[in-house]
Amino acid sequence: MNKPKIIQLPKITDVRGNLSFFETSNHIPFEIQRSYWIYDVPGGEMRGGHAYKKNCEFTIALSGSFDIILDNGKGNKQIFSLNRSYYGLYIPQLYWRQMCNFSTNALALIVASTPYNEKDYLRDYDEFCEFSVKDTQ
Ligand code: TYD
Repeated sequence: MNKPKIIQLPKITDVRGNLSFFETSNHIPFEIQRSYWIYDVPGGEMRGGHAYKKNCEFTIALSGSFDIILDNGKGNKQIFSLNRSYYGLYIPQLYWRQMCNFSTNALALIVASTPYNEKDYLRDYDEFCEFSVKDTQ
């Protein structure tokens, strides 16, 4: 799957409180190697500002809301608003992402296809654009 995509997750509604879940084999288009979460984001702050050469991710707003701006380095930009805990955004490799407009108490859960590796990051936007153009040649 090479395009970003909102993935709906099961939602088991219950008067005692709702429950959602995901399973690698059924809901996530890669094998999960790592999980991390972003929280306590001060008002007006942004996260991200990079792409990965290989790593793919799936991001959920477990609590609160935020936006993710994706850029494929070839002139296509998309914005996704995450604000429910029963769907998330799949982000393939080679998408520049910025996370912004975090609400108070926003909690972002991210599951990733690779272990943390700083060498997989593209942190310079121009370098990212060159890399993604070369990737499609
Ligand atoms: P970074 O990925 O740049 O944050 P953002 O989510 O804003 O894009 O990571 C910030 C710092 O945290 C950086 O020093 C690397 C470290 N880090 C890890 O050690 N392990 C991880 O799994 C992640 C995602 C980051």
